[in-house]
Amino acid sequence: MAKNKPAKTARAAAAQVINQVCQHHRALNGVLRLAQSHLPDKDTALCQHLCYGVLRWQPQLTAITGQLLNKPLKTKDGDISALLLVGLYQLREMRLPEHAVISETVNACAQLGKPWAKGLINATLRQYQREKENISEALSQHETSLYAHPQWLIDQIKHNWPNEWQAILQANNEHPPLFLRVNRQRTSRQAYLDLLQQQQIAATPTTLGNDGILLATPQDVFQLPGFSDGDVSVQDGAAQLVAAIVDVKPNQRILDACAAPGGKTCHLLEQEPANHVTALDIDASRLTQIEQNTDRLQLKATLIAADAADVSQWWDNTPFDRILIDAPCSGTGVIRRHPDIKQLRRDTDIDQLVATQQQLLENLWPLLNTDGLLIYTTCSVLKRENEQQMMAFLAQHPDAEEVLLTPEPATRQTVGYQRLPGQQNMDGFFYACLRRR
Ligand SMILES: C[S@@+](CC[C@H](N)C(=O)[O-])C[C@H]1O[C@@H](n2cnc3c(N)ncnc32)[C@H](O)[C@@H]1O
Repeated sequence: MAKNKPAKTARAAAAQVINQVCQHHRALNGVLRLAQSHLPDKDTALCQHLCYGVLRWQPQLTAITGQLLNKPLKTKDGDISALLLVGLYQLREMRLPEHAVISETVNACAQLGKPWAKGLINATLRQYQREKENISEALSQHETSLYAHPQWLIDQIKHNWPNEWQAILQANNEHPPLFLRVNRQRTSRQAYLDLLQQQQIAATPTTLGNDGILLATPQDVFQLPGFSDGDVSVQDGAAQLVAAIVDVKPNQRILDACAAPGGKTCHLLEQEPANHVTALDIDASRLTQIEQNTDRLQLKATLIAADAADVSQWWDNTPFDRILIDAPCSGTGVIRRHPDIKQLRRDTDIDQLVATQQQLLENLWPLLNTDGLLIYTTCSVLKRENEQQMMAFLAQHPDAEEVLLTPEPATRQTVGYQRLPGQQNMDGFFYACLRRR
C-alpha cells in the first residue's frame, strides 16, 4: 500500500484518522466518515471504536509511549505514532486476545506504506506487556495522564468546580448513552416505548422532560422502528430540556440563531409546527443537516446562512417572540460524545468564544419583542461562558430580567442552571432564560 492512500483495514484507517485529528487538527466526525467510506463494511465499526477510544484516552496513551520510546517518532511518521496509540488502547481497554492485537497492529504498518515500522510497533507493544505494572503506577504521578485531559482544561475545570472536578473529568471519559426524542406530532412516548418493548429493545422514559427515552444499550438508529419516518430523533436528554424553557405558544415568531444541525429547531417545531421558525447558522454547509432533519420529520423552517450577530445582513425588521441562542462554546460538557475536543480546543479559544457569545447576545437582544424570551444555552461547564456571561449581560441591560424556571432543568447558579456531564446520565449543559421588560 502506498503512503498517504486511504487504508483498507480498521486499525490502519484508525491510525490515519487519529493522525489527522492530532497533527492536523481536523474534526473527528468528518475525517472518520471519509475513512470509513474506503473500508469494507465489516471494518467500519471497529475503526470508529478505535478512533473514539484512542482520542478519549490520548493524553494517557501518549504519556505511556513517552515512557516506552527512547525518543519521539518524527513528525512525518505521525501515523505510526497514532498506530502505537491504537495498539496500546486495545491492550489496555479492549477485551481482545493480546497476541492477535499485536499481530494485527503490526500488520497495519504495511497498510500505511511503512513496513519498516513493524519491528518498532512489535517491540514497543511487547515492552508494554512486560512493564505495564510499573507504567500504570507512573501514570498516577501526573494529572494529565491520570485523568486523560490536557492540563489547561483540568486547571480550568478545577478552578470552576473545586468539589466536582474529578467527577467531571471521569464522566468525560465514559461512553455516552443514546437518548431518543419522540416526535409528538407522530406518536406518544408511551406508544413508542411499547413498540420498543415489542421489539425487545430495553429503554426507559427520561425523568426530566416529556419526550425523552434512554436506550439501555446504544444501537444503530436506522434499525429503530419508525426512525426513517420521523417517529424519533437522536438528542441528548440535556438538550431536550431546552424546548420546554422556550415555552412556545401558537402563532409565534421564533429565531433559532445558532441552529445547525437543527436538533432544537425540530424539537421546537414538533411542539407547534405552524409557528414561524427562522433557523440561522453561520456555516452554510451545516444548513444541509437542518434541512435533512426537517425533511425527515416533515417540518418547515426558514433557513438562512448568516452570521447571526450581523443583523443588517438577514433581519427583516419584524421582532421575535422567542430567541434561542444555543451558542458556539468550548463543548466542555460534551467531551464524552466528542473526545477530539481534548485535542482540538486550546485555552486561548475560550476568550474568543466568550467574545462571540457576548456579541450574539448584544446584537440579538434588540430583536426581541417586549415580554419576549431570550433563551441562552451552551454545552459548556466553564463559568465564563455561562453564569458569568449572563451576569455581565444582566448588569448591562436594565430591560432584561431573569425568568426562574420550574421545574429546574439543572442545578441553580447565581444566574441560570448548570448540569454537569454525567448527572442523570446526561451531557453537561447550561440554561438561562431572560425576559425583555
Ligand atoms: C452548539 S451548535 C448548535 C446546535 C443546534 N442548536 C442543535 O440543537 O442542533 C452551535 C452552532 O453555532 C453556529 N455558529 C457559530 N457562530 C455563529 C454565528 N456568529 N452566527 C450563527 N451561527 C453561528 C455553528 O456553526 C454551530 O452550528
